Amino acid sequence: MTDPVRMTVENGLAIIEIDNPPVNALSQAVRQGLVETVLAADADEAVKAIVIYGAGRTFIAGADIREFGKPPMPPSLPDVINQIELVSTPTVAALHGTALGGGLETALGAHYRVALASARFGLPEVNLGILPGAGGTQRLPRIVPIAKAVQMITGGGMIGAKEALELGLIDEIAQGDDVRAAGIAMAERLVAEGAKARPTSAREASAIDAEDFAKMQAAVAKKARGLKAPVNCMKAIEAAMTLPFDEGMTRERELFMELYNDPQRAAMVHAFFGEREVAKVPEIKTGAPRDIQQVGVIGGGTMGAGIATSALLAGLDVTLAERDQEAADKAAATVTGHLSGAVKRGKLAQAKFDAIVGGKFRTTTDYADFAQADLVIEAVFESMEVKQDVFGKLDKICKPGAILASNTSYLDINDIAAMTNRPEDVIGLHFFSPAHVMRLLEVVVADKTSADVVASGFALAKRMKKIAVRAGVCDGFIGNRILNAYAKAVNGAVLAGASPYDVDRAMEEFGLAMGLFRVADLAGLDIGWASRKRRAPDRDPREQYAEFADRICEKGRFGRKTGRGFYIHGDDRSEAPDPEVLEIIEAERSGKGITPREISDGEIIDRYMAAMVNESARVVGEGIALRPLDVDMTLLNGYGFPRWRGGPLHYADTVGLEKILNDIKAFQKEDDFFWQPAPLLEQLVAEGKTFASLNR
Ligand code: CAA
Ligand code: NAI
Repeated sequence: MTDPVRMTVENGLAIIEIDNPPVNALSQAVRQGLVETVLAADADEAVKAIVIYGAGRTFIAGADIREFGKPPMPPSLPDVINQIELVSTPTVAALHGTALGGGLETALGAHYRVALASARFGLPEVNLGILPGAGGTQRLPRIVPIAKAVQMITGGGMIGAKEALELGLIDEIAQGDDVRAAGIAMAERLVAEGAKARPTSAREASAIDAEDFAKMQAAVAKKARGLKAPVNCMKAIEAAMTLPFDEGMTRERELFMELYNDPQRAAMVHAFFGEREVAKVPEIKTGAPRDIQQVGVIGGGTMGAGIATSALLAGLDVTLAERDQEAADKAAATVTGHLSGAVKRGKLAQAKFDAIVGGKFRTTTDYADFAQADLVIEAVFESMEVKQDVFGKLDKICKPGAILASNTSYLDINDIAAMTNRPEDVIGLHFFSPAHVMRLLEVVVADKTSADVVASGFALAKRMKKIAVRAGVCDGFIGNRILNAYAKAVNGAVLAGASPYDVDRAMEEFGLAMGLFRVADLAGLDIGWASRKRRAPDRDPREQYAEFADRICEKGRFGRKTGRGFYIHGDDRSEAPDPEVLEIIEAERSGKGITPREISDGEIIDRYMAAMVNESARVVGEGIALRPLDVDMTLLNGYGFPRWRGGPLHYADTVGLEKILNDIKAFQKEDDFFWQPAPLLEQLVAEGKTFASLNR
């Protein structure tokens, strides 16, 4: 292996290149090479200044996350950066791409910083459940105002070069795109000016009113919703403000180690790699994505409008078809409204918005306008009849090679594909509501879908900045199938004695942004009701069917949009428990002869998780999901499962599969139709294995 850190000395400058593709992560070899070269350069009389830069597409993107959890391999990053900072030779970090985490911390340890205009900077450690543990929490507050340090360290986002310059995080934005030359130019100038080393640690930390800081601390803790990292980040920033640098570093280390050893860190790292692994599906190896420029969307309701928006934001050309002109105009207004929102939030430039409304987006009532489309996504009513009719027509109109996709939530893609003479071009692209916001896309592969069509689904997701998960065909695919299972379990808890408000509280305390009943009220209870009515004829008589949601719908109460559902909704977006809902539930219990009992929050979560894990095990066992991690990424990105718990199957591994299986067996005594252990779960328990063992 070639040395990942190389130094050349030219005209009195030591130029250190970090070359550890793909993102110059700070592996042990990089850390060692970096400290050795900087110390050697400092010891060399001929060297008047040092330049550190990254080869390839970026400066350092942070610690090597693959080393997390392994035994420590010296030198540690805090030591490396402290040693770099203390050399007497002026040191320049020349930055391009993304200077992230340990990468930005390395730059903060250098004495001067120059960046290309396209460079971005951030401390994303909080997204991995940790804090910037190589002096970032101590040095950043010595450069930028405390409020900004709080935002960057607890928020984990990135800032651009212009803002970094205004904040004094960098000293200069270089012209052009040659980062090495930019570093050399700055170093030459520093030498000519006789500039000295300028350690960040020697500066005073920024000041802030104690009361303002306390408010920020409270706000961060509230937003963290169970995630420990942001809370420790605030404690570390407080140390930077109140302690001398060395003591602050010691405190940072303690707080870092606390997080590093916490299961939340392992869960967040699982999510980081899972979101990348999930794109590695067999079809990518055999099929090359088709070129997609022109997209057709059929149906401009909730989903169609969101899908069209998402495609437009990804730079695609979109034609949206509705049933009549009035519906088409309404859909156009919805899409334009979504796009204006994106402009307001700074996600879409005004010029791009103008280009979209000026020509890249149009509506129609005639499918003939799809003749040249490369991809058509259908988002009409959830009815097999309507969808089959649409696909039959598309088959006649669309050009050869066009991809025909359905956004169906539950229906069988094979039956839809059968209406065409090109089932190999038909696929499910299951977006989540709101489609221009939610990151998940289930790519549903039917029996005859060709590999390049699957690869195209993944390429589209990437272009839309979404996480695509490969799913097989079944009722509800991965996500909705699992949701249906845990919804039944939660309904069972309600019949047994919990209230919907107990359930929501327990789920929210577990880390979900919203409990199941609150979400149902927000999405509209009529959607689930319609699908339950559709399935009623196929319902197994042995199923213990909970009827209270149907009773609520029968009163015309569909949640927030009608002012009442499980909650009573106020104009000010307030939500209050509804005594009538409790009466409806009580009536169902007495009709079924159930004597309600006390159900603890712990039991609610045990039921919810047992049902979720059990159905997930079936989904993996049947090959609907390729691996356990595919299930985890689905639940994290589409169903609000707390990221710091890693996903249901990662969670199951951490609590132990035996505990989950025992829970299922205990609940079985109450309802032995629903609570049947999945064969894969039983097998893993019998073999003493984890779900993680199947991810490899
Ligand atoms: N360590 C190890 N591998 C990493 C990595 C890291 N820090 N960052 C990225 N990679 C890997 C990815 O897993 C991926 O590998 P595969 O190709 O095998 O899947 C590859 O590099 C390319 O990454 P992306 O697909 O994400 O490429 P991208 O161009 O879309 O994004 C990026 C590049 C913005 C750098 C993004 O990868 C990213 O955000 N990386 C993580 C950055 C981060 O969190 N840094 C902080 C680390 S913690 C730290 O530094 C702790 C500390 O203070 C001591
Ligand atoms: P919706 O009722 O809001 O929109 C459907 C739209 O399709 C209506 O505007 C209707 O006028 C139009 N339409 C119906 N038949 C048409 C035809 N033949 N040609 C052109 N337009 C036609 O429904 P929604 O919620 O957008 O759902 C659409 C599809 O997306 C369904 O299959 C649904 O299961 C699925 N889905 C829904 C999600 C949700 O949360 N609402 C999430 C993911 C998928």
